[in-house]
Amino acid sequence: MARKRVGILISGRGSNMASLIARAKQPDCAYEVACVISNRPDAKGLETAASQGIATAALDHKALGSREALDAAMHEALLAHGCELVACAGFMRIMTGGFIAEWAGRMVNIHPSLLPMFKGIDTHERALEAGVRVHGCSVHFVSEELDAGAIIAQGVVPVLPGDDADRLAARVLTVEHKLYPAVLDVLAQDRISMRDGRTVFADDAAATLSILQNG
Ligand code: GAR
Repeated sequence: MARKRVGILISGRGSNMASLIARAKQPDCAYEVACVISNRPDAKGLETAASQGIATAALDHKALGSREALDAAMHEALLAHGCELVACAGFMRIMTGGFIAEWAGRMVNIHPSLLPMFKGIDTHERALEAGVRVHGCSVHFVSEELDAGAIIAQGVVPVLPGDDADRLAARVLTVEHKLYPAVLDVLAQDRISMRDGRTVFADDAAATLSILQNG
């Protein structure tokens, strides 16, 4: 089967992006990274991607002036690079309903909490504040409501005595880097899909992903 072409959307550091690129270098991977797009021209991840020979686009949301203009520019760039799937990896802009509908079932995101807990930002601070004993990350299909799309897989870490937000974030990030490439690979193999707002798993796709759930 031909490898699926993926566009990665970032806003900053790009460590999840780097883990997706690393998986794509393995010969058995079902996807290839066609381009990396950032809404911030100074995103560190753009340099990392370019240094690995991947096409990049800096689409400055401030210069573009509106959500609609950013999404239109992203859509055009994704099509220009032949993308079939979109992976949001630390992409911090809210998207328009039109863009989300265009990529429905083909766009995924990684979020640093066990959804539906702690949608939005400052998830690690809020997990500590709430006193939860486990925390983690979720990969989900992107739907119009923020961080509320169908959940595909989750990675779980303990919250340990003495944790601060940075320590907890680092523990979650380690799991993010394992979980996200695995999910994208299974998506690119057409073994998961979104139907009626839920994730549908073909064959043993759920089992493949659940192996990763304890990091
Ligand atoms: C990651 O922890 C990711 O889950 C989170 O931002 C970080 C980006 O780091 N994403 C969100 O908060 C999305 N709302 P990275 O740039 O090193 O991948």
